[in-house]
Amino acid sequence: MTAMRKINYFSGFSNEKDQTIFNLEKDYGAHHYERIDLVVRHAKGCWLTDEKGHKYLDCLAAYSAANPGHHHPTIVNAVMDALIGNYASVLSNVVFTDPLGIFLSEAAGFAPQMAPRFGNQGNKVLPKNGGVESVETAIKTMRYYGFKKKKIEDGKQQIIVFDGNFHGRTISVISFSSSKKYKEGFGPLTPGFVSVEFGNIEAVKKAITPNTCGILVEPFQGEGGMRIPPKGFLKGLRELADENDLLLVCDEIQVGMGRTGKKFCFEHEGIVPDGVILGKALSGGLVPLSVFITSAFIMDMVFSKGSDGSTFGGYPLACVAGTAALKVFEEEKLAEQSAKKGKILKQRIEAIAKRSTHVKEVRGKGLFIGIEVKDGNAMEFCRKLFKLGLIVNDSHGHTIRISPPLVINEEEMDFLMEQLEKVLVG
Ligand SMILES: Cc1ncc(COP(=O)(O)O)c(C=O)c1O
Repeated sequence: MTAMRKINYFSGFSNEKDQTIFNLEKDYGAHHYERIDLVVRHAKGCWLTDEKGHKYLDCLAAYSAANPGHHHPTIVNAVMDALIGNYASVLSNVVFTDPLGIFLSEAAGFAPQMAPRFGNQGNKVLPKNGGVESVETAIKTMRYYGFKKKKIEDGKQQIIVFDGNFHGRTISVISFSSSKKYKEGFGPLTPGFVSVEFGNIEAVKKAITPNTCGILVEPFQGEGGMRIPPKGFLKGLRELADENDLLLVCDEIQVGMGRTGKKFCFEHEGIVPDGVILGKALSGGLVPLSVFITSAFIMDMVFSKGSDGSTFGGYPLACVAGTAALKVFEEEKLAEQSAKKGKILKQRIEAIAKRSTHVKEVRGKGLFIGIEVKDGNAMEFCRKLFKLGLIVNDSHGHTIRISPPLVINEEEMDFLMEQLEKVLVG
């Protein structure tokens, strides 16, 4: 263990040497992340800066959390106002707050009418802190719906999920992960999930039983290798959900909020799910905030006093950040920006791919682009890109994931392309 040093712990920021920071984390933190050797001292817009002032173009954007760019001034100002004005801190959940009410109404209206087959009475929102917590809320909702509406015996409810999924890392959620690494040694796991091949509608059909209550899907698998399902897959899920009275829930934590060139990724297939999960960019990447949104009908059926809750879920600071981030999303037309820039970027990457001996396939929508490499070692390219001032990482080992803040400008895109050219073509 490293000896204690004199560090300015008071403000939580020391500007100590990189090596000190590496050691502090090594000695006092769980080693559950593989990190690159970079201590970020400053993050603004699309750029991260280290101690020596070296700049890195952030083309990972905290896996879509920094969609509006780091420290977006509108969101920062909203958060500062809340802190200075003394309406930011967490309050006992026995009282109402202004920021929560406003945020709930904004978030409810942000999504189209969920589950329209139950009527047009609007949406309701249940806020939490991190994405996986809202995935848990969605699971509870689907199970309760099965129990209450479909009269499935409690404990027998089943949810269909997909091979290669990533929905977070609580015990229930890792229980249906395809990744051994996520679940080995963490049993007993939670039953009630059936995983089928992503994109295979026939497999879904076969998996439905009288105990099935819902389908949980990522409309575009990010962690699972940047995989876009075949055209018609989401429509097929919608039809199966309608025919069999199942709740269809889309996890849009990574691909929602404009990332794929539409507000919601499910819009690419013109469907409307029964519930949607948002997180990450929902607060502009400044404060943890996630939501499960469903129709008022379903939310009121499932949740009653005491059936859910969270100390920080929907606390004022997060709600203020969330409301500001939703405003930025609309004002700056982030989905449109993503669609326009993503189209150009993808074409440029495809042109590089034609000249590269390393690229197997380029796939993506909006500013969510995967470059699958032939030898399956995408991380090797990511490391080279890091040395050239670009932050990207691999998805599923074989694919380089490009997901910059949606506000990336032309010059920054040129910089990105120059570095990709160097490592993919040489
Ligand atoms: C699609 C998807 N679902 C759920 C999660 C979990 O979110 P969180 O890490 O905020 O719990 C993630 C995180 O990357 C994600 O990409």
